[in-house]
Amino acid sequence: MTERVAALVERLCAGERLSEPEYAALIEGRDEEAAARLREKAVAVRKAVYGNAVYVRGLIEISNICKNDCLYCGIRRSNANADRYRLTREDILLCAEEGYGLGFRTFVLQGGEDGYYTDEVLCGIVRALKRRFPDCAVTLSMGERSFESYKALCEAGADRYLLRHETADKAHYETLHPKEMSFDNRMRCLRDLRALGYQVGCGFMVGSPGQTPQTLAKDLAFIADFQPDMCGIGPFIPHKDTVFRDRPAGTVELTCFLLSVIRLLCPTVLLPSTTALGTIDPLGREMGIESGANVVMPNLSPVSVRKKYMLYDNKICTGEESAECKNCLAMRMASIGYEVVTDRGDRKQITDAG
Ligand code: 5AD
Ligand code: FES
Repeated sequence: MTERVAALVERLCAGERLSEPEYAALIEGRDEEAAARLREKAVAVRKAVYGNAVYVRGLIEISNICKNDCLYCGIRRSNANADRYRLTREDILLCAEEGYGLGFRTFVLQGGEDGYYTDEVLCGIVRALKRRFPDCAVTLSMGERSFESYKALCEAGADRYLLRHETADKAHYETLHPKEMSFDNRMRCLRDLRALGYQVGCGFMVGSPGQTPQTLAKDLAFIADFQPDMCGIGPFIPHKDTVFRDRPAGTVELTCFLLSVIRLLCPTVLLPSTTALGTIDPLGREMGIESGANVVMPNLSPVSVRKKYMLYDNKICTGEESAECKNCLAMRMASIGYEVVTDRGDRKQITDAG
């Protein structure tokens, strides 16, 4: 480690934020020694807040129909090879029923921007879930909607909302998305969700085409400033039916490095070790936890649709039943000394994260 990098690492370990040029210098100058120091401190901070608990969220992939055409995404509207599906309210309630029996107390409804889920339909689903499972948190991950829509969903009982910002650099955002999508609207959505009182998650892909240490520095500065309740980061993985099919995937190394940095910038954040991380490396999710993450998201979708929710190639957990997926993750977490816990797992207030 150069002296410059070592000094930046120590400042992060002391709970300080860096400037954008400093984040960029840290990313460019990182080595295994820097990563190890950040990892050790990130794990200590997470331990002070959450002990050795890893929270589970049951992911229900409710639709792969999407009006958007994000250049990286396998379910973009222009992908004619995607075999489209959507789950009805009854399908979703059945998945949740099974999940509840397996111990899940958070359900994440994720899907493309599918016009079928009007406010009326989606609010109905949220209300039904909250009525049937009053002790569960409902998290939505259904993309960009209006303030009024987010408000109606919140009033229907939705607790949390995940909307990755994808990149905090406007010019980079525009190279990843078609022109009808806008960075400003993305950020408007995150601000609206926060103002409405949701627990809000942002996040980005690591190694997305065009990403640089400078764009990542903006992501880190944004995250430090926004202080999300949740933050989803995982490697970009090319999908064969997208324009980015030949681009290299993001790495486990950089993803884990950034997980440690984010833990230090946001000590209480709920930080998943993602399926994408488990897809690029068989032990990726374990490494994510050991870098500072504290959430895993087993797949609760009906097995019949799992292979259709292909955001990227070779996605794992598409063949197994929900119970298998949950047990698999419980064993994986136990193997590294962590305990999967099944309460709602709300974000803790800062105590003394040291
Ligand atoms: N590789 C990795 N992650 C992807 N996502 C979409 N496409 C890909 C891909 N090719 C992520 C986006 C989105 C989340 C639901 O999945 O960040 O917000
Ligand atoms: Fe889903 Fe292992 S975590 S099958």
